[in-house]
Amino acid sequence: LELRHPSGMTRIAAGDGAIGGEMSAVGGWLEGRRVFVVSSPTVLRLHGELVREVVAGALEAPILVVPDGEPAKSLDQARRLWSEMLAAGGKRDSRIVAFGGGSVGDLAGFVAGCFLRGVELIQIPTTLLAQVDASVGGKTGVNMPDAKNSVGLFHHPFAVLADSRVLATLPPAELRSGLVEVIKMAALLDLDLLGRVERDLDDLLAGDPVALAPVVVAAIRAKAGVVERDPDERDERRLLNFGHTLGHGLEAALGYDGLLHGEAVAYGMLFALRLAATRGLATSDAERLKRLLGRLGLEALPQVAFETVLAAIARDKKGRETGLPWVLPARLGRGSIHQDVGQAELEAELSAFLGSPWG
Ligand SMILES: NC(=O)c1ccc[n+]([C@@H]2O[C@H](COP(=O)([O-])OP(=O)(O)OC[C@H]3O[C@@H](n4cnc5c(N)ncnc54)[C@H](O)[C@@H]3O)[C@@H](O)[C@H]2O)c1
Ligand SMILES: [Zn+2]
Repeated sequence: LELRHPSGMTRIAAGDGAIGGEMSAVGGWLEGRRVFVVSSPTVLRLHGELVREVVAGALEAPILVVPDGEPAKSLDQARRLWSEMLAAGGKRDSRIVAFGGGSVGDLAGFVAGCFLRGVELIQIPTTLLAQVDASVGGKTGVNMPDAKNSVGLFHHPFAVLADSRVLATLPPAELRSGLVEVIKMAALLDLDLLGRVERDLDDLLAGDPVALAPVVVAAIRAKAGVVERDPDERDERRLLNFGHTLGHGLEAALGYDGLLHGEAVAYGMLFALRLAATRGLATSDAERLKRLLGRLGLEALPQVAFETVLAAIARDKKGRETGLPWVLPARLGRGSIHQDVGQAELEAELSAFLGSPWG
């Protein structure tokens, strides 16, 4: 696949053997250069050989290790990487390879976007969520102590290599979390994909690479299409926030510890279905999506105080002076943005939802 964006084009290879298939293009990109590999301990332990093969043709390929998971996404980590890159002789035409989950990818993309005003990078995402969502579309960033993703920039990678084989080692909860983002895109953009996920869900949850590869490809295609049409998130790209208004609110209210991102988004979608029901979404569509989410075997929604969630939603970075935009499905395959969810309605629905999320 190719994704055209305002600053050029990103090559995207996905599926079984995606890395091998791109080796010649990647070889030319890094030949004779210093390539900084940004990765985390778990990923290096499980798949370090793979990335060493990818960068074998570089002049030098120091590995910069950052913590696993969300702690990677801090300004302190970014500052440390910039120092190490300067100390190691990093130049404007040095390269970065991000090898890990979305946390590593968001940090490495941010570090690449700022270092000497921007160096090129390749994303090699190793979680399902990072393959279908975080690595595609150029959004990068780090967290401030109380505000996730609040500092960042668009910096599109030269290439994304989403190889299904690395997914074999993912813990089931991480697979589930990534599948939620797939379901999100399928429900709004691609009903064929939704049908495939429904049909193959058991194999997908088991991490079967044969089932995963076409799903990853279709989800990336759906996301890349949206990003091409609306790279700056003025219009259609906002639809990808389906489930994220309450999802982010739940994550923040739980102190980013209690639900994985995808799990919180699944609850966010369930909540959006409630708001959509009073705006004409057919019951059969809502039930279909709810049934699929139900089959994921999500963690139960932890106890969380109504006021805390409400306050977290009010701080949402999607919020505008004109109100909070809610992405609601008009029907499966088509979403729209609603600014008209009033405070009274929000409070009534949220209170009912927290008491009984599945309705
Ligand atoms: N930039 C974007 O457009 C965008 C989109 C969605 C999400 N995100 C960001 O992505 C982050 C979440 O990413 P994530 O879900 O990939 O989680 P993650 O990067 O935090 O990784 C989760 C865990 O899985 C481990 N892991 C990674 N690959 C593995 C593998 N192959 N086998 C076994 N374990 C592996 C990691 O070490 C980590 O412990 C969030 O910070 C979120 O904000 C960004
Ligand atoms: Zn998400």
